[in-house]
Amino acid sequence: MYRDPVESLEPLHSRPALNRTLRVGMIGIGTVGSGTFRVLVRNQADIAARAGRAIELVVVAARNLGRAAGIVGERVALTADPMQVATHPDVDVVVEVAGGTGPARDWVLAAIAHGKHVVTANKALLAVHGAEIFAAARKQGVAVAYEGAVAVSIPIVKALREGLAANRIEWVAGIINGTTNFILSKMRDEGLDFAAALAQAQALGYAEADPSFDIEGIDAAHKLSLLAANAFGMPLRFADVQVEGITALQGLDVACAEQLGYRIKLLGVARRQADGVELRVQPSLVPADHLMAHVKGSMNAVMVKSDAAGLTMYYGAGAGSEQTASAVIADLVDVARLDGVNAAQHVPHLGVHEHATNALAVLPRAAVHTSHYLRVPVRAVSQIQAVTACLAEQKVPVRQVALAAERPGVGPQVLVLTAPVEQGTLDLAVHALQARSEVAGAVATLCVELLEG
Ligand code: HSE
Repeated sequence: MYRDPVESLEPLHSRPALNRTLRVGMIGIGTVGSGTFRVLVRNQADIAARAGRAIELVVVAARNLGRAAGIVGERVALTADPMQVATHPDVDVVVEVAGGTGPARDWVLAAIAHGKHVVTANKALLAVHGAEIFAAARKQGVAVAYEGAVAVSIPIVKALREGLAANRIEWVAGIINGTTNFILSKMRDEGLDFAAALAQAQALGYAEADPSFDIEGIDAAHKLSLLAANAFGMPLRFADVQVEGITALQGLDVACAEQLGYRIKLLGVARRQADGVELRVQPSLVPADHLMAHVKGSMNAVMVKSDAAGLTMYYGAGAGSEQTASAVIADLVDVARLDGVNAAQHVPHLGVHEHATNALAVLPRAAVHTSHYLRVPVRAVSQIQAVTACLAEQKVPVRQVALAAERPGVGPQVLVLTAPVEQGTLDLAVHALQARSEVAGAVATLCVELLEG
């Protein structure tokens, strides 16, 4: 008879003696750290049953010890010095949820050097210092787990590394920043202005300490470099991600995209091409009837196209306290189960295995091959032909041309959707358009992603 796997978990007292408790030291007790503590305590028995051993927080490093004591109570030791947690003799695994890159690198490397596993939700740290951290972990035979670093509640790292392990991944694309998706949704659905929507995202704890990381696309680029490392077995190439945030996005383009049947989302795309990999984070048009267009608020979604499984899609909260805690604790459960067993498998292979495809280069912007949306301000409606003639001359294949609906105070605008074309060709065409006397202002361009199999 079918038994629900969770229901069928026996109460702890009737199970055989569990292994020794996994002792956790945590650096940081802010939004993510406090959520992690709450969930660890609330679901203690189920978590222990699944992990095969109890998981207990024994020490926390915090900047404000009084506030930390208010959260964790008296049974957890407190220190103001993160290095004490990283090197603590009673700690098996260090959870780094403080954020930042410089000091966090030192704490994580110290923890690894002291033979401790590391769980972190710090995507900036891994995007920038991951190669060094993973190499150190491999050498020490400890795990570095980071499910909470990418699309927090969605187990996408596990999906890529375990669920899709049989596949050759062709592309990964998704909404991987909750703050910007929240802002874009509020602006579109409630007519909020950018600043008000950002303030709400900050109040809800979605935004990074420096929100420019969210709105400039940097946070998404951190996550994309981790996704690409797992999808393609390539080194972390954060510095090579082509990044564009949402600060320059105009409301007019949101409205014109809607008119054409598209919504604008900040997408991270990692796509294998013949000569290398595209890595880019950009506001992009997606068809309004696509599932991706309906991912709203701070929710994230990731699609993966792979050769055997085909198209798969993953959806869940992209930011939040307990949402991130869910991933951090899942990593702790993994560490508890696999402590000492093949820990090298817990970091991306980053090209160190013979089968790794680290020969994959990151393609330069000019070689990116995708469809585009163009909005061309013209002096008169009749000049639509001048625009299409110029694009034809420049060898840009056009799929659809329309005039934007009239708006008070806005001159005529020609809207164009292209077929896939190299970015370099498109850039030359935009340059040529910009030089035409019929063109009355800056040409706006955005990528279009159909996200089809
Ligand atoms: N600032 C991040 C976001 C938090 O908005 O997605 C989760 O990584």
